[in-house]
Amino acid sequence: MTERQRIMVLLFHPLLHKSRVNRELLRSIQDLEGVTIRNMYDLYPDFHFDLKVEQNLLLSHDIIVWQHPFYWYSSPPLLKEWIDVVLEHGFAYGREGRALAGKKVMTAISSGGRREVYQEGGMRKYSIRQLLAPFELTVTLCNMTYLPPFVVHGTHMLDENGIGRAAAQYRKGLLSLMDGIYDEGEISKHDYLNDLIT
Ligand SMILES: Cc1cc2nc3c(=O)[nH]c(=O)nc-3n(C[C@H](O)[C@H](O)[C@H](O)COP(=O)(O)O)c2cc1C
Repeated sequence: MTERQRIMVLLFHPLLHKSRVNRELLRSIQDLEGVTIRNMYDLYPDFHFDLKVEQNLLLSHDIIVWQHPFYWYSSPPLLKEWIDVVLEHGFAYGREGRALAGKKVMTAISSGGRREVYQEGGMRKYSIRQLLAPFELTVTLCNMTYLPPFVVHGTHMLDENGIGRAAAQYRKGLLSLMDGIYDEGEISKHDYLNDLIT
């Protein structure tokens, strides 16, 4: 039997006390063995990362999840800062920088907009995958694999049940990733991880 993959969820939510969705997503995975959860705005309110801690944590996990609300078609600023600082030249990329090679990264986002608006011809013109291109390219430049994102759409319209269903789906998705049940070729064909979760 292959070993379970270790997952690290890095949560970037500047207003978690006001969150409806991300708080519930987090709650649904809190008890999972083999999942490390880090609330980054709590840990680094001044945006000054402990580089060694962050890099060592990356080394000791197989799958990294960037969980955050979708803000202005992107992430809250602390994730961008984390990428700029932690994915250092000579560590994550460059001729000598192959420390993260072979790991996987997934974005898990909540978005106010419905899925239909994020497509060609839709109100937001671009798909979520297109809008997440800078994250995907960052990951691939660091010789890692970018997984299809897990997305909770239409957050403003979701009631408690809807949020609960999304949270249960998130838990299931992370468990499946840990157990490595998704075929690599198959997973890359999908726009969303959600579509693979049965
Ligand atoms: C500053 C800000 C920017 C936002 N930008 C977007 C956006 O670009 N696209 C979108 O679909 N929703 C956007 N939203 C809505 C949030 O994504 C949504 O409220 C959030 O995902 C809900 O999750 P939460 O309950 O965990 O906060 C934005 C919200 C805020 C506060």
